[in-house]
Amino acid sequence: MLVTGAGQISMAIARRVGYGKKIVLGDRRMENAETIAKVMTDAGFDVTPFEMDLSSRASIRAMIGEAQRYGEIRYLVNGAGVSPSQAPIEAILKVDLYGTAALLEEVGGVIAEGGSGVTISSQSGWRMPQLTAQEDRLLATTPAEELLSLELLQPQRIRDTLHAYQMAKRCNEKRVMAESVRWGARGARINAIAPGIIVTPLAIDEFNGPRGDFYKNMFAKCPAGRPGTADEVANVAELLMGEKGAFITGSTFLIDGGATASYFYGPLQP
Ligand SMILES: NC(=O)c1ccc[n+]([C@@H]2O[C@H](COP(=O)([O-])OP(=O)(O)OC[C@H]3O[C@@H](n4cnc5c(N)ncnc54)[C@H](O)[C@@H]3O)[C@@H](O)[C@H]2O)c1
Repeated sequence: MLVTGAGQISMAIARRVGYGKKIVLGDRRMENAETIAKVMTDAGFDVTPFEMDLSSRASIRAMIGEAQRYGEIRYLVNGAGVSPSQAPIEAILKVDLYGTAALLEEVGGVIAEGGSGVTISSQSGWRMPQLTAQEDRLLATTPAEELLSLELLQPQRIRDTLHAYQMAKRCNEKRVMAESVRWGARGARINAIAPGIIVTPLAIDEFNGPRGDFYKNMFAKCPAGRPGTADEVANVAELLMGEKGAFITGSTFLIDGGATASYFYGPLQP
């Protein structure tokens, strides 16, 4: 099992579905990979930490090569990412948008028959107005190496880091649709999970960032009335990645305590 991003969401999913499997856990910050690998190893999982950068195809290939030393790759969890308060526009597009696209391309070329994967997008991608059918198609099908040259992703078209993040997360969902066709030809499935506010170091950076009040208001006024936990995201991943999810592929599951619903039709309307 390949896991990118040694964060709370990745770990919750890996703990739920990764027992009995060899797990290669990649992160740009080796200390994060080592910390999570230790917690999981102490709990009986078989985890090898690996330094990797999702925004580099060479690095993605190196991680795949490391995993293949142990056998065929059967599962993918992509929980690496940067949030709007953590990084500038260019880095968000390079990691969250390009990196995810390159990872799905690369793993889609080697995934074992019967395999499955999830990538973590975000409710943010659902909040932005619809793109045109042509723009959606470009995000879905442009080869990953050409994505960042698309006109709609040029600096004059991206307002701020939140907009960059929304575009990246919208792109993730479109990539999953297009990739599910390719993965399906190998007998494998790929889906996305779009979480709302899940308490993790990334979300805490947002609570303490320039949009902190916005986020706190969002979970207070959403139907669930609270932020979510990584373990609840793992509940969805367990369904998507296991036998009960056999008919689900190319899909994105929103798990946001109803925040998106309230944004359109409830008290969170702008
Ligand atoms: N926490 C939330 O509220 C929330 C909501 C919606 C979506 N998400 C998404 O979930 C994913 C995981 O976030 P999390 O909340 O578990 O965060 P986290 O901060 O716990 O973990 C993210 C990990 O990704 C790593 N990372 C960052 N850039 C990387 C790169 N270029 N290459 C490899 N690793 C890299 C970080 O070092 C960190 O260890 C992200 O894609 C995020 O956008 C999170």
